[in-house]
Amino acid sequence: MPQTWSPSSWRGKPVSQMPDYPDPQALAAVEGRLKTHPPLVFAGEARNLTAALAEVCQGKAFLLQGGDCAESFAEFHPDTIRDTFRVLLQMAIVLTFGAAMPIVKLGRIAGQFAKPRTEDNETRDGVTLPSYRGDNINGIEFTSESRAPDPNRLMQAYAQSAATLNLLRAFASGGYADLHNVHRWTLGFIAGSPAGEQYKALAERISETLGFMEACGLTPEAIPQLRGTSFYTSHEALFLNFEQAMTRIDSTSGEWYDTSAHFLWIGDRTRDPEGAHVEFCRGIRNPLGLKCGPSLSEDALVNLAAALNPDNRPGRLTLICRFGADKIIEKLPRLIRAIQRAGANVVWSCDPMHGNTMRSQGGIKTRSFDRILKEVKSFFDIHRAEGTHAGGVHFEMTGQNVTECLGGAQAISEQDLAYRYHTHCDPRLNASQALELAFLMAESLRAERMKDALFAASA
Ligand code: PEP
Ligand code: CO
Repeated sequence: MPQTWSPSSWRGKPVSQMPDYPDPQALAAVEGRLKTHPPLVFAGEARNLTAALAEVCQGKAFLLQGGDCAESFAEFHPDTIRDTFRVLLQMAIVLTFGAAMPIVKLGRIAGQFAKPRTEDNETRDGVTLPSYRGDNINGIEFTSESRAPDPNRLMQAYAQSAATLNLLRAFASGGYADLHNVHRWTLGFIAGSPAGEQYKALAERISETLGFMEACGLTPEAIPQLRGTSFYTSHEALFLNFEQAMTRIDSTSGEWYDTSAHFLWIGDRTRDPEGAHVEFCRGIRNPLGLKCGPSLSEDALVNLAAALNPDNRPGRLTLICRFGADKIIEKLPRLIRAIQRAGANVVWSCDPMHGNTMRSQGGIKTRSFDRILKEVKSFFDIHRAEGTHAGGVHFEMTGQNVTECLGGAQAISEQDLAYRYHTHCDPRLNASQALELAFLMAESLRAERMKDALFAASA
């Protein structure tokens, strides 16, 4: 029987992935300051996202979640935010055509700082220091000063999240995301690439269609959806001291919301049903994600789904599967069947990044485009076979022209990894690779629709 929940009840549970602060009082003082800072998002927006995800749960919409593995203070720049936003918009347009469904756009942005680590410490040339845990906790530089957790970094992360969110809101509703700008979202460096060319052709079709619609009187004044879009934010609910400080009672509903982002997820390393992360997340009303890795059993998943969504509300819980291109074939069907047997309402999403990380021959952490695509394809195939909705995808990606993942139409090679490898944590798809994946997914989604339509016509 669940015990009483409060924003601090997680403190009575075992908590993993916690940094060791040299001055706990300084941390408590920062938490106190954060509690008096304005919310970053509003409860009503989080409820709107739950409603949009409920549509995904019912097979009527598709979720696109993406952004940096870890945001950093060093890469904080308006152009970086704009580039991530516009490649997500481009992908959403491409997917809308493929799926013929609304696309729910969710950034891993405006708060995605804290990182879980396999090892608490890192040793280089005989020197051992605490592992880097994200810019909101400590610095990536390998010195004892930089690696010591510093609570003031939480204030900087808050400020960066607020400024990022402010720009995202302006982009989403201030005219930039107007569908009439569909041509302008093309990023310079992908303009000449195969995905860029394909996008240009699609943008032309959309512009033509808009002209036709306007001639029929369907103007942006009549249809506000043409003038802007909804865009939501998310991050891993990892550093609970920060999440607790941002958790407030919503005056409209009287319920608790974590106002640091619209959507929070529990990582694969912190999904212990008896642990602090599950305890914290079960009590907030935001829509939640749960990362599902190869070690998650059917029973454990069903129990977690019940603990996190006791009322079985559609849209509340998204299962973000990250098995790897090979393991997905064995693992995913079992989990789908267990969830179906339990009658649990969930959104199924595919994170094809975290189970496909490897080292290049030169020892650089990377991922191959082909393995990523293979996992996504299997995800669609398995859901089709099980009769369930492949509801969404979750990518680590950036709008920048980085060389962190191998392959794709640009054929990024092992040698290329050295050129523009900027990530603070895991390797990301660049804009061209991300858009290419969107086109390949759109083709599968379209082919499925055509098959379904044929089947319906012949039945
Ligand atoms: C992540 O999404 O950055 C992450 C650490 O994922 P996971 O918890 O699935 O390993
Ligand atoms: Co990652």
